[in-house]
Amino acid sequence: MRFTLSALALILTVAASSMTAGQSTSGQPPVTFTKDVAPIFQNNCQVCHRPGSIAPMSLLTYEDARPWARSIKQKVLAREMPPWFIDKNVGVQHFANDRSLGDRDVQTISAWVDAGAPEGNPADMPPPRQFPAAEVWQIGQPDVVVSLPKDYIVPAKAPDRWPDILVDPHLTEDRYIKAVQIIPTKGFTVIHHIRTSIVEPTDATLGSGKLDDADVPLEVGEQGVFLNEYAIGKQGDVFPDGSGRMIKAGTKINFQMHLHATGKEDTPTNVMLGLKFYPKGYTPNHAINSTTVSAREVDIRPHTDNVRSDGYLTLKKAARLLSFQPHMHNRGKAECLEAIYPSGKVETLSCASFRFNWHLNYVYADDVAPLLPAGTVLHSIMWHNNSASNPFNPDPDAQITYGQRTIDEMASAWISWYFMSDQDLKKEMDARHAAKTVPTSTR
Ligand code: HEC
Repeated sequence: MRFTLSALALILTVAASSMTAGQSTSGQPPVTFTKDVAPIFQNNCQVCHRPGSIAPMSLLTYEDARPWARSIKQKVLAREMPPWFIDKNVGVQHFANDRSLGDRDVQTISAWVDAGAPEGNPADMPPPRQFPAAEVWQIGQPDVVVSLPKDYIVPAKAPDRWPDILVDPHLTEDRYIKAVQIIPTKGFTVIHHIRTSIVEPTDATLGSGKLDDADVPLEVGEQGVFLNEYAIGKQGDVFPDGSGRMIKAGTKINFQMHLHATGKEDTPTNVMLGLKFYPKGYTPNHAINSTTVSAREVDIRPHTDNVRSDGYLTLKKAARLLSFQPHMHNRGKAECLEAIYPSGKVETLSCASFRFNWHLNYVYADDVAPLLPAGTVLHSIMWHNNSASNPFNPDPDAQITYGQRTIDEMASAWISWYFMSDQDLKKEMDARHAAKTVPTSTR
């Protein structure tokens, strides 16, 4: 019901505005590139759409953008650009790293295209946006910097690839991470994104040693436990004071890179992972964990769509959920995460559609990060599309089962969270109720 109403409201708003906006006959000034659209592109698109970055074309100038007008309208209306696939009609809506366009910006772009994509007055053009130098540690000087022992070469012409490269940073003691950042040092234009994970010495394939505290399904061979990701324009993760991520002596770092050939030349790639620690011997109040809420198997028949799998994870202690990252392979389509509270009440926390070439991590804003009482069951629901309508599907004739290779499938949600005491949970909930920031009906 809630979905229908808000979706309807959105459609009505968009319809109403596209009837008037952009038409000078309505009495409103016409929407132009220089006055209205260029500022939106500067703030939301150019970090990727500029020469030397990862997108296929530049959106810096009117001349750059004009030929793409039709495609731009289509991609922003479909919410495929900027890449941010959270369902805006259900669940938590505030994220620390939200890069989506507001409805008003979508309407402006759409009206501009409908009006014939006029340039407008060149004097209205805002000064060009300056982009900070890429190789700067936004987290401050790291204590440890880990790089690939040798450059990984991306041939000029090759299909996209996702190599996993395991690196030993020779850590000799357990430490808590305060902040973490990835910087590409070579091959910026071919590095679509990077995910790092930590592979602990004792249980290399099992991940974090927190199995006692939650029924963590084992993700055997999934190259360790998610640590962080690099996405263009991102400045690293600084954990809130008093919270941190433990990294044990002997831990190895797995780098998984999504690499996309330029078509022009062989490109060496390399990256730096910077770790900033809390002081030696310091134990933060909240140790951050990551794990998956995974389906244990998937069974996807040829030429099928909307094939559903489910995963469950019981939290044995109260927890604060920090982030949600859908994880599937080529045939992934959409994913939701819901909380089944001890009372039996069920609440959808997040839903997102899934496109295989973007692995987006959705980080909840502090004041709305879900607070989950002990005994809550997290339930992930994944849908796959093994039909020819999925542009990433290499072979709709194939019968697909669970596995690590990209031609097999996975169905999981990577989540990060920290445990808290029942009293702290109650305190935070009371504070939120008082401030009326509870996003949904979370109790
Ligand atoms: C995080 C980087 C990033 C941001 C931000 C971004 N794009 Fe893109 N865009 C890409 C990449 C990479 C592609 C190539 C296709 C893909 O990987 O999805 C693309 C593709 C496109 C295409 C399709 C081009 C074609 O070949 O048909 C359009 C149109 C587009 N983007 C418009 C925009 C607009 C408009 C914005 C801002 C409102 C934007 N993008 C923001 C990275 C980005």
